[in-house]
Amino acid sequence: MKILTFKTAEEIGEAAGKLFVETVQKKDKAVLGLATGATPVPTYTYMAKACDAGEVSFKNVTTFNLDEYCDLPKEHKNSYYSFMFENLFSKIDIDPANVNFLNGNAADAQAESDRYAAAIEAAGGIDIQFLGIGRNGHIAFNEPSDRFTNNAFKVHLTESTIEANSIYFDDVPMPHYAMTMGIGSIMRSKKIVLVATGKAKAEAIRTMVKGEIDPQCPASILKAHPDCTVILDEDAASLL
Ligand code: F6R
Repeated sequence: MKILTFKTAEEIGEAAGKLFVETVQKKDKAVLGLATGATPVPTYTYMAKACDAGEVSFKNVTTFNLDEYCDLPKEHKNSYYSFMFENLFSKIDIDPANVNFLNGNAADAQAESDRYAAAIEAAGGIDIQFLGIGRNGHIAFNEPSDRFTNNAFKVHLTESTIEANSIYFDDVPMPHYAMTMGIGSIMRSKKIVLVATGKAKAEAIRTMVKGEIDPQCPASILKAHPDCTVILDEDAASLL
């Protein structure tokens, strides 16, 4: 795992954004794995600016998002679908037909997982996967557990995640369940970029980097990936 540290959110957005832009520039039908939350916003701003400047086109790009809340309408302002259109898809020239999300309202979670795995495979696999990290070491919504998961599944979110994310919900209570890509789906990506900022992530980053590979810190598995870049600010890197 390659670790890079920067001072500002803008520098982090540029460093991570360049890896996505380069992937799209090099491969005609690139497949991007995308994340939501506060962390990716500067990266998405960089990607939108590069598109606006004519440096890159996302016309032939396909995307797969990591996760989506259950029991929340797709168009609700707090859905990850809405987040992606607000923060990235409405600002780049992507074809909305090429963006993929797990359906958090699917009646059959296993069938939904199978559908997503088949769609990723049909697209040729994920070329570059964006990840944030939870304070408890989660990646996507793979919460600390006694085993690593494989394909997508329905997860009961932990108290730590509910506490961290409920600040975004003002009209409805935050859902306690989500559909998430599994660890196997993430690890099959050709390249992985994990970004973390702020003191609240320092302990999770320390455990990920210095600890054993252990499903109690799901991000620790990334040490076994052949091409994983970790991009941090000084606070997130402070316990390394
Ligand atoms: C979001 C996701 C989560 C977040 C993580 C960090 O799609 O999969 O794992 O990356 O919870 O969230 P932020 O960036 O808001 O601190």
